[in-house]
Amino acid sequence: MILPLDIPSPCFVVDYHALERNLAIFDKVQQESGTKCLLALKGFAMFATFPLLKKTLHGVCASSINEAILGCEEFGREVHTFSPAYDEDSLKQCLEISDHIIFNSFSQFERFKKLREQFANKVEFGLRINPEHSEGEVALYDPCTAFSRLGIVRAEFEDKNLAGISGLHFHTLCEQDSYALERTLDAVEDKFGKFIAQMKWINFGGGHHITRDDYDVAHLCKLIKRFKDKYNVEVYLEPGEAVALNAGVLVTTVLDIIHNSMFIAILDTSATAHMPDVLEMPYRPEIKNAGQPGEKAYTYRLGGNSCLAGDVIADYSFDKPLKIGDKLQLLDMAHYSMVKTTTFNGVKLPAIALYRDKKVEIIKTFGYEDFKNRLS
Ligand SMILES: Cc1ncc(COP(=O)(O)O)c(C=O)c1O
Repeated sequence: MILPLDIPSPCFVVDYHALERNLAIFDKVQQESGTKCLLALKGFAMFATFPLLKKTLHGVCASSINEAILGCEEFGREVHTFSPAYDEDSLKQCLEISDHIIFNSFSQFERFKKLREQFANKVEFGLRINPEHSEGEVALYDPCTAFSRLGIVRAEFEDKNLAGISGLHFHTLCEQDSYALERTLDAVEDKFGKFIAQMKWINFGGGHHITRDDYDVAHLCKLIKRFKDKYNVEVYLEPGEAVALNAGVLVTTVLDIIHNSMFIAILDTSATAHMPDVLEMPYRPEIKNAGQPGEKAYTYRLGGNSCLAGDVIADYSFDKPLKIGDKLQLLDMAHYSMVKTTTFNGVKLPAIALYRDKKVEIIKTFGYEDFKNRLS
């Protein structure tokens, strides 16, 4: 992507052609394995791209009534909704617009029996299971960690009536390969095999890094086909990150350069407000034309424009000294960034743009009203 110099800053720029490239891989997976892939809106929800995404993906996975409405309004295909717990009002609304509703506990499944029965002809119901098999290295992203509130453990299934349930759902992976999925499927089958055979569908959740260069797509297809054949079920995948992997940048501008034992550049973006995963996970985003600290001639710590002391992106080196006004591109910023922005400290929200056929279309800019509207 060659971006114009006058692009607004900060700005998320999503690359239409990179999305097409990722979708071609999903298309292949769907064709070869017979699975249906959904977009997890929690990871990527830039609805200006939905006309493209919905040509390949079968629908969306929503985690709240707001995401379900967005999926229904803007995507218009299947809506699969899961929430750790529903309140009655939002469940009623979700039932109106969802194809699948997934419950996180028998308690919720039983509590809303009457409501479920009213929608039984229109909505399919599922339960999220917890296979108690951890593949994740980061506890924050591991739904199978000890005392996890996500998913029903096998012991809770004893003596339960599964009438009205047509599917099971699990989500255990995070940026993982098909071999992690294979080990997870072994755990799922080992614990829940006898229930799977009674189901119409099973949802393998997200966390499949399908569009990463070294992902073994053929192995994934083999796993899915084997599962479908063995249990005679439909298989769904609901990735977020893989749909938008390497499909966008965050453009930011150097506002100041200071010195405190090292050079520190202050940017017009913020780790905490615009890319909180950098601090939570934590991880170090790549920057176009930058290296590890010390690798190139000029090293800087890049800091955000909020008052949080730890609002630091990381240390990077550059071939030339940075100057005030320089624009930098943080790479792979389409997923889990735009969906997570806040207006903490009143830091300006990044604009949203789409790059297509060498042109940049500015889709949305934000201002004072967007900050104010959330506060009273
Ligand atoms: C239930 C569920 N489904 C799907 C996803 C999407 O995962 P990813 O974006 O890693 O593919 C998540 C992510 O947290 C999730 O919790």
